Amino acid sequence: MKGTIPDHIINDVYNSYDIIGDIAIIKLTKTVEAYKEQVAEVIMKIHKNVKTVLAQTGPVEGEYRLRKLEYVAGEAKTVTIHKEHGCLFSVDLAECYFSPRLSYERLRIAKLVKTGEVIVNMFAGVGCFSIVIAKHSEAKEIYSIDINPIAVEFMRKNVVMNKVDGRVIPIEGDAKEVIVNVLSKRADRVLMPLPEKALQYLPYATLALRDRGGYIHYYDFEHARKGEDPLKKASTKVEGRLRGLGFEYNICFGRIVRTTGPNWYQIVLDIFIQKT
Ligand SMILES: C[S@@+](CC[C@H](N)C(=O)[O-])C[C@H]1O[C@@H](n2cnc3c(N)ncnc32)[C@H](O)[C@@H]1O
Repeated sequence: MKGTIPDHIINDVYNSYDIIGDIAIIKLTKTVEAYKEQVAEVIMKIHKNVKTVLAQTGPVEGEYRLRKLEYVAGEAKTVTIHKEHGCLFSVDLAECYFSPRLSYERLRIAKLVKTGEVIVNMFAGVGCFSIVIAKHSEAKEIYSIDINPIAVEFMRKNVVMNKVDGRVIPIEGDAKEVIVNVLSKRADRVLMPLPEKALQYLPYATLALRDRGGYIHYYDFEHARKGEDPLKKASTKVEGRLRGLGFEYNICFGRIVRTTGPNWYQIVLDIFIQKT
């Protein structure tokens, strides 16, 4: 940035940003707002593949988990194609949720999947977890639910583009209704990549599992002060809920996926549920 914007402003520039396909998403502090075009030009100079720079002007919010975006520089567009683990994801960033920061998680889960498994992805977005799993495992079927019709439209396109049709099955609707109506007792494994609804929807995840039980990948946000363990706090919360539902369980693994704010963490727990 040196020589591009005043020296006293440089420290106010956020040093992290997302690159999704050929679009960069930056965040701006008040002081940097006036220099956003210059910041964008530097990003496009460093990353030759970046054709568009957008600014995120608010938090990820609403039922569809969308970020408010504002055009800053380059081509005026919000649709792009992102490459990850040998898969292609077409996405409209203004209309669908997408985070490149979950890339490690997607492959981690894919590597746990055994041949012939039936999987339910309760909050599938444009299909990223499901398609990475289909490409990197011998899963039989991955039922992929999302309530956002535009995300499901992109998921359908992505399924064809990645040649996983018939194995990744997009379904539009509310995960709890879809599970109650058509997917109860079908799954060996259930993914819950929506922290805001994870605890509330946990009973439906257990309902989707076969009678012999199976795995749930549970994502949540947890607050932890210094000296507190966010994984322990999340486990205690989930254990209370599972005991209330009357299941035997084993939390086999947990990890902090990322820090989301001061003392806030996104965590994942891999839980084996014994139903009978
Ligand atoms: C945090 S995003 C995760 C998307 C995707 N798994 C990914 O990693 O890109 C959560 C998704 O859940 C969807 N969603 C919200 N409430 C839902 C519900 N009740 N049933 C199904 N999907 C829902 C949103 O539309 C959003 O696409």
